[in-house]
Amino acid sequence: MSDLFVELTAPNGRKYSQPRGLFINNEFVASKSGETISSVNPADEEEICTVYAAGAEDVDIAVAAARKAFKDPSWRDLDSTVRGDVLYKFAQLIEENKEILATIETWDNGKPYLVSLNDDIGEVTSTIKYYAGYANKIHGQVINTSPAKLAYTLREPLGVCAQIIPWNFPLAMAAWKLGPALCTGNTVVLKAAEQTPLSVLYLATLIKEAGFPPGVVNILNGEGRKAGAALAQHMDVDKIAFTGSTVTGKEIMKMAAVNMKNITLETGGKSPLVVFDDADLDQAVKWAHIGIMYNQGQVCSATSRILVQEAVYDKFVAEFKDHVLETSVVGDPFKDESYQGPQVTKAQFERVKAYIETGKSEGATLIAGGEPHKNVSGKGFFIAPTIFTDVTDHMQIYREEVFGPFVVISSFKTEEEAVERANDTSYGLGAALFTENITKAHRVARHIEAGMVWINSSNDSDVRVPFGGVKQSGIGRELGEAGLEAYTNQKAVHVNLGTRL
Ligand code: NAI
Ligand code: MG
Repeated sequence: MSDLFVELTAPNGRKYSQPRGLFINNEFVASKSGETISSVNPADEEEICTVYAAGAEDVDIAVAAARKAFKDPSWRDLDSTVRGDVLYKFAQLIEENKEILATIETWDNGKPYLVSLNDDIGEVTSTIKYYAGYANKIHGQVINTSPAKLAYTLREPLGVCAQIIPWNFPLAMAAWKLGPALCTGNTVVLKAAEQTPLSVLYLATLIKEAGFPPGVVNILNGEGRKAGAALAQHMDVDKIAFTGSTVTGKEIMKMAAVNMKNITLETGGKSPLVVFDDADLDQAVKWAHIGIMYNQGQVCSATSRILVQEAVYDKFVAEFKDHVLETSVVGDPFKDESYQGPQVTKAQFERVKAYIETGKSEGATLIAGGEPHKNVSGKGFFIAPTIFTDVTDHMQIYREEVFGPFVVISSFKTEEEAVERANDTSYGLGAALFTENITKAHRVARHIEAGMVWINSSNDSDVRVPFGGVKQSGIGRELGEAGLEAYTNQKAVHVNLGTRL
């Protein structure tokens, strides 16, 4: 079965054995149809390899494996401390394999290697460890009602959980979903994004060694419309958790209705970053840069819409532009000095280019970027960091999620106007605000319609703190204690201690 692995040498010289199969029941297998998808390196547009893609039949097999594993007491009824130990072991194996995982992530996704290594893999291990610690701290309550009754609750796993993840943080998004699902005793079928199929397959090689029984964690690649839709519609899947576009999130919601699946959705955003005239401008500039340019601008909670109070508008724009041009070094993602790699795919590259044309035709002022960056090797999906100013509320580039190194800046007069315009969007994921006035900061934080508010920072995320959106940015929360709610039912037990009829 040698075609289930391929020997590869990554651009940084690292040699390794890349799995190509579907990971079901702790084994790699070929897809029933033999269909594959091609994985491309966005930095040079060359194919890395192909991997097997699941169809509906493979999804059925994976779901059946997860169902069987859920019924099996060897996982569900495992002593909760021991279940935590399996997750700790998994985190330890990830740590031991971090260079190889980071190499694959960078090769397939295009994000800088040091970011993959320190941020993404760091996020993976901290998330798995955090939820490993929760495994033996999840319990119900005793609820006092009357002397004739004992009422208590049990926290129970949901069952078979399908998890559909995106391409912008493949391993980190897998960890955000696996951690809480597994520590609570569920079983999982996870589908990676077709743009970045490789790193999760390597992650799968660590599952068996960590000690998960067969069928507890199944990992598939496959197209959204085939494998993803098959999971969302499956009658034997109890829950679906999704991260991706708002459009796909809505489709998943509809499909999940067939058997009323529990759902968690984490979708798009057009998050505002508001700079008041009493802000520490130097800090506002630096955080605003990270807030939009990190990860090639491919972040759901990116603060892509900057609103600056009139009195400091010109100064902010000038300093922000200088800082972006100086700091956002576009280059080979395997070089240490690169801050920004290529966009993940040609489709995303074309999408950002199209928004650049839209911005120009809408009459916004282009002050930086606005074109592909061709100085790396002449190839690859690189885009020069792009800034539009004098952007007004009706413009498409002000309203729609671009998902690239692309930011719009607009000015406002009053606090009231800032809040109203920050909220004038169908999205509600994050919002950042900069002011040295503590009262104003908390007042505005309350009035902003968003799942997360950053005061004097942007996109500060922590595994211990809930992450998620309101409005069309999603349903439910990931991370923190709140992340456990998404994977447990509360069963109420009423014990009659003497009420006789
Ligand atoms: P997408 O939402 O279509 O894909 C995300 C995941 O959903 C992938 O695993 C995909 O295979 C799966 N999927 C797609 N169609 C499906 C279906 N009908 N049923 C079940 N699963 C399905 O996003 P796409 O097309 O890759 O990117 C388009 C835009 O979406 C981006 O430009 C960006 O604006 C947004 N996006 C947001 C992300 C976030 O972190 N919230 C991540 C990725 C994309
Ligand atoms: Mg790729």
